[in-house]
Amino acid sequence: MAAEGKRTAGYEGRYVQGFQYFLEHSGEHNAILQYLEKVLPDEFKRVGAGERQMDVLGVGSGGGELDAQILTLLQSTLPDVSIAADVVEPSTELMGQFKALVSKTPNLKKIPFVWHSVTTEDYKTEASAKGDMKKYDFIHMIQMLYYVDGCAETLKFFHSLLKKNGKLMIIHEQADGGWDNLWKSYKKVLCTKSISDYISSGDIVSHLKGLGLKYEEHPIPNSFDITDCFTEGDETGELLLDFMTDQEHFHQSFTPELRAEILDHLRNKCSSEKDGMRMFDSSLSCIVIYA
Ligand SMILES: C[S@@+](CC[C@H](N)C(=O)[O-])C[C@H]1O[C@@H](n2cnc3c(N)ncnc32)[C@H](O)[C@@H]1O
Repeated sequence: MAAEGKRTAGYEGRYVQGFQYFLEHSGEHNAILQYLEKVLPDEFKRVGAGERQMDVLGVGSGGGELDAQILTLLQSTLPDVSIAADVVEPSTELMGQFKALVSKTPNLKKIPFVWHSVTTEDYKTEASAKGDMKKYDFIHMIQMLYYVDGCAETLKFFHSLLKKNGKLMIIHEQADGGWDNLWKSYKKVLCTKSISDYISSGDIVSHLKGLGLKYEEHPIPNSFDITDCFTEGDETGELLLDFMTDQEHFHQSFTPELRAEILDHLRNKCSSEKDGMRMFDSSLSCIVIYA
């Protein structure tokens, strides 16, 4: 999102604070990790069969918590294979956190990392200009395709970077889940900052079909408590709302009528009651694309 008039990646300052609170509160990383622990060992054995080195690319890796787990799983699944990692992450704040995580994690310190502090769009431009199309065994894009310009083009480009047996794994908000419902219903007012056109896993699958790529899709169910969002003045509720709606301050960003409408929508269309809490449907989808 580097071109004139385009939005920034947005993951700096208060937005990072909201993102981190969301991660602590939502159980999203745990849900993803539990799923990955079940499926990745076999996937890595297939992809790594006969390989002496596995080249892994993380795209939009954020603070690297999931990358760290993926690389650790790869090390334990294929202990005799050497691993090299590239990371494309435009947020300097999150990239800094990722580097700090690597420096304090003994098994990760053994892996050579190449850090690309750019958006996917700039990565593609730079790699094309240099003629340096490094190929990868495993590429992952976790919760990041919302922010790219031209989803189909991006999928096509990263797919072209796969080695013969490689896989591209996308984890993304599920079609018809709470996020899809919220963001498509309020597209006009929400798609004005870092996300210019919300896409769900359903849109990604349509692009994959259009590109004629072979893929598999699996659900990753998750939900989290948004009860605090309905208590005006609750600081953590506001931080969560800011992240969920991509606003600096939810209560200052919209008119009282629109605020009430969005909150009502969150309560009645995107969440359900469980043990006295409002649980937001934050189900995800894992899409694994073949080379
Ligand atoms: C929701 S976070 C996900 C981070 C990490 N994958 C995770 O699941 O914890 C989205 C990430 O995409 C990055 N991002 C935003 N725009 C991007 C772009 N155009 N190209 C690559 N990454 C981008 C953000 O900086 C952020 O780290």
